[in-house]
Amino acid sequence: MSVSKAYLACFALAAISFLSVQPAVGQKNDLAARPPMGWNSWNHFAQKVDDASVRAQAEAMVSSGMRDAGYTYINIDDTWEGERDAKGNIQTNSKFPDMKALADFVHSKGLKLGIYSSPGAKTCAKYEGSLGHELQDARTYAAWGIDYLKYDLCGLRTEMRAAPTPEAANKIMVAAYVKMRDALRNTGRPIVYSLCQYGEDAVWEWGPTVGANLWRTTGDITDKYAKMAEIGFGQAGLGRFAGPGHWNDPDMLEVGNGGMSLNEYRTHMSLWAILAAPLLAGNDLSTMTPETIALLTNRDVIAVDQDSLGKQGDRVSAEGPIEIWTRSLADGSKAVGVFNRHPSALTTRVDFSKLGFTRPVKAKDIWQSKDLGSIGAPYTVTVPGHGVLFLRVSQ
Ligand code: GLA
Repeated sequence: MSVSKAYLACFALAAISFLSVQPAVGQKNDLAARPPMGWNSWNHFAQKVDDASVRAQAEAMVSSGMRDAGYTYINIDDTWEGERDAKGNIQTNSKFPDMKALADFVHSKGLKLGIYSSPGAKTCAKYEGSLGHELQDARTYAAWGIDYLKYDLCGLRTEMRAAPTPEAANKIMVAAYVKMRDALRNTGRPIVYSLCQYGEDAVWEWGPTVGANLWRTTGDITDKYAKMAEIGFGQAGLGRFAGPGHWNDPDMLEVGNGGMSLNEYRTHMSLWAILAAPLLAGNDLSTMTPETIALLTNRDVIAVDQDSLGKQGDRVSAEGPIEIWTRSLADGSKAVGVFNRHPSALTTRVDFSKLGFTRPVKAKDIWQSKDLGSIGAPYTVTVPGHGVLFLRVSQ
């Protein structure tokens, strides 16, 4: 072999080994090419979730039309965990007599099943976590037929607090998330990997490198306008970290839980769609009103959220309580949200030439399901208190 050939071979080998240790984005499969859609037990059921309520959600997801609208995951949050057996295998507690049978049932409805754990010894609700059992737990989940894991930091704080510096604590956390990523990959089963550590240490910067398909960017949402708005409007600037396979997660939906008005829930849905956020319903699907179903299944809202470009939107302007957010969509159109954060109605003018369009534009009012035709001048509109004018605008 000539010197130059040997040099080339060395270079190629070095390149291959370099590439093989590079962290892959997402779970290295086509999981979560679009923001995950589904349901999660925590916001409504919290520790009361059990086998019967999960089955009821799966049935309601189908009968309400949510499955056909794109909702897929039925995610069991904290409090399903039992003790470990003599070999260290995690078992369910008495609320979940047979997780494999439950997964089979959920799959038989054309849906997928998600579960929850912590990298710490205990979960947030003080149930059994995965610390020291990561591979074993991932294998158990795969054997049950689990399709999604929410991995919630909580218990690992004990280990992190004992670290000498914040940097050392961060290393412990990142290593724990890498460990479960590798454990999940090792099972060979595609399992969506959802990080929950409340957006600490700018998780959006390193989430993709630990294989996360999504990562929570904030603390817990509640069913109140103030908290939902604080979280949703607080997402400005995070868009560049998200994309197909790896999403910012501003937490689950509260739509239908009763603590917000119709206009406030429309703001919640519109904002989450512009943010390319996971749409994980957090209400009781088995007792939904037609109004809640309409909020959750609005096809135009879902089309914005699930747009194939996967480009998260952002704030364009904030003038007092009026905020305009836009999101670029695959067909060249834009979702435009004109939000009124004031409790009473306000009238404002939308100048499309400031939103990247030359006039006239064509617009559809998404919530009114009304084609507004061609708009040639700044558009004057009255937005209800805490409400939104949500448009799909094209040239
Ligand atoms: C944390 C998470 C919540 C939920 C609970 C469960 O608070 O942020 O989403 O999973 O734990 O204990």
